[in-house]
Amino acid sequence: MKHSRITGTGSYLPDRIMTNAELEARVETSDTWIRDRTGIAERRIVADDETCADLAVAAASQALDMAGILAADVDLLVLATCTPDRVFPSTACLVQHRLGMREGSIAFDISAACSGFVYGLDIANRFLMTGGAKRALIIGAEAFSRIIDWDDRATCVLFGDGAGAVVLEPSEQPGILSTHLHADGQYEDLLKVDWGVGQGYDRLTPETGTVSMRGNEVFKVAVRTLGRIVDETLEANGLSKADIDWLVPHQANIRIIQATARKLGLPMERVVQTVQNHGNTSAASIPLALDTAVRDGRIRPGDLLLLEAFGGGFTWGSALIRY
Ligand code: UT7
Repeated sequence: MKHSRITGTGSYLPDRIMTNAELEARVETSDTWIRDRTGIAERRIVADDETCADLAVAAASQALDMAGILAADVDLLVLATCTPDRVFPSTACLVQHRLGMREGSIAFDISAACSGFVYGLDIANRFLMTGGAKRALIIGAEAFSRIIDWDDRATCVLFGDGAGAVVLEPSEQPGILSTHLHADGQYEDLLKVDWGVGQGYDRLTPETGTVSMRGNEVFKVAVRTLGRIVDETLEANGLSKADIDWLVPHQANIRIIQATARKLGLPMERVVQTVQNHGNTSAASIPLALDTAVRDGRIRPGDLLLLEAFGGGFTWGSALIRY
């Protein structure tokens, strides 16, 4: 096999919509501030009995349907999340079983915050290219509302829940052209959930169990870093900005997305924007945006897509894809 390509996409958003008006009633904020500073109009929130695995199964089922294959045909599942159902088994194992993948097929979670989907795509592509797997499901799924402090206006207006998935299969024609991953742990304190069982049980309080972010500092590093990764990706492929048909960015903030589009010289009509509908869904945001634009017919076979992400860690990454 020479190449791998995406043959199916899927996504899922929980039913419950939380509007900006609802948040106005809860913290000192306004619909105008949220829209102007972030582009977000509403976000989705999981039901009380819904978990990350439920979101992942729904998105993956759609992706399998579009690819026209059964879960039993998939031998690798990579699930990116920072809101897993349990410490272990991994959410990927729960989803593998519920989808009906074969016993013994590979399934694992990865933790790379908002860059998790791009990390997962890179890993799965390498499995396929080296013969370690034949067909892969890559899922980004987040029940992010479970780690939100609903009294913190600096974060509670930003995030939402959802899932997105893709199927990756062998191909004669190029699909995944290149992937680029990076991390830099020196920024651990700018964006974090300071809760983890490895720290000891006395640290596990509700206060440490929610997201904290120094938003403005994250914003500046994100814009700078995403600008750099655009250059890195184009150079690695000997391409110019004009070759890109669609930017499919991580959906954190419309102003960060606009800055990357400007860097590429792309009009906003060639940028997939879904942040207004679901806020920042972390690892789910890129596959959610990709699925939206594939299903509404904007992204067509043969189009050249640039996916890029930035998130906690910091982690960041990109993928150049011939769809
Ligand atoms: O996905 C992982 C990566 N995450 C990101 O990329 C997020 C990056 N950061 C951001 O998107 C933006 O920094 C935010 C949307 C979080 C904030 O926007 P900003 O333009 O950087 O605002 P700021 O933090 O500089 O705050 C401006 C003002 C402050 O008030 P003063 O000091 O000017 O009086 C804040 O206290 O806005 C205030 N503020 C709010 N006002 C109303 C902060 N949050 C809110 C709020 N509603 N929800």
